[in-house]
Amino acid sequence: MVQAKRLDEVKEYYFSSKLREVRALEAAGKPIINLGIGSPDLPPPPQVISKLNEALSNPGAHQYQPYRGTADFRNAIRDFYKNHYQVSLDPETEIIPLMGSKEGITHISMAFLDKGDQVLIPNPGYPTYSSVTKLVEAEAVYYNLSAKGNWLPDLEELAKKDLSKVKLMWVNYPHMPTGASANDEFFADLVAFAKKWQILIINDNPYSFILNDHPESILKTEDCKDVVLELNSLSKSFNMAGWRIGMLCGSEKNINTILKVKTNMDSGMFYPLQAGAAEALRLDKKWFTAQNEIYKQRKEKVLELAEALNCTPEKDQQGMFVWAKVPEGETSEGFVDHLLHTHDIFTAPGFIFGSQGEGYIRFSLCTNEENISEAIKRVKK
Ligand SMILES: Cc1ncc(COP(=O)(O)O)c(C=O)c1O
Repeated sequence: MVQAKRLDEVKEYYFSSKLREVRALEAAGKPIINLGIGSPDLPPPPQVISKLNEALSNPGAHQYQPYRGTADFRNAIRDFYKNHYQVSLDPETEIIPLMGSKEGITHISMAFLDKGDQVLIPNPGYPTYSSVTKLVEAEAVYYNLSAKGNWLPDLEELAKKDLSKVKLMWVNYPHMPTGASANDEFFADLVAFAKKWQILIINDNPYSFILNDHPESILKTEDCKDVVLELNSLSKSFNMAGWRIGMLCGSEKNINTILKVKTNMDSGMFYPLQAGAAEALRLDKKWFTAQNEIYKQRKEKVLELAEALNCTPEKDQQGMFVWAKVPEGETSEGFVDHLLHTHDIFTAPGFIFGSQGEGYIRFSLCTNEENISEAIKRVKK
């Protein structure tokens, strides 16, 4: 059967195909150290596992669950946003749980985009914004980020373009892959930009607790809800990537529009997952402090590895990666393949995040210090 035309421009996700190659090398006996993917190797909070187990015995646990998520989980999301970001949300109307924030990217795009609509997408940025835009037959318009501009969009420059067909703009701070952060002032400028040009901004916010003492939400910006949505996730903050739990917060009107898509695509999230996730969201700051102690140690080691490879890391990065320039004259793909085949070290090449990522490499902090020390040893040898 001929595939749908909408797939013509969409490729298999880079990690989906590259990890096949990595697994084949492992199967052939290569001792691969994986510094490629951002899948936390640390365990979720133990209370969360207990809650999940306990919830399995709840008499209603195995039935369909509410489309909008359980009231308990939505209340936990409300409290989480209040406690950590000082943002007030109505759990009845302004919150929906997601099966990972990645699925939210599709729901939002299907809910707001028609064929030919334009979408502002960061370059470099999370590749899914771009592939989903293509899947719904909208047009990706990339805005360049660079070290010189602190990896923030130049809104004045953007305003000089014809923005009449732009409906959505994806932003993601703390930013993946560069680790750059945004402050209140930038978010206020962004909201003003969105109002002026009638664009819906979505901040994708899965990294705000990793190596960052001051988590920010764009939803804290005054009078922003009509033009802003925020995606969040338990994947990175609570080491629960495999659980597939995220959330979407925004105005009642926008949330209802997205529910028209989502309620036709799934039939609620498994009850024990929601019960466990609610338990995680109720943990206090000590959880993040303990995780960050581990990430801090790992980061020091990864910086040592980057130095041994003559790579130059960006300053002041947040999140669970180290973004670094590859040595002069190298391409990111060539450098990553060299590391993989010479030293059995898997990292992510910057080009997969867009043309502005060329010349960079992304190291993940999702492997233990022992492995990173071994990687340093291999490179120094
Ligand atoms: C920027 C960004 N957004 C979204 C996601 C997806 O996260 P989730 O596991 O919640 O689907 C990732 C995962 O790597 C990410 O890096």
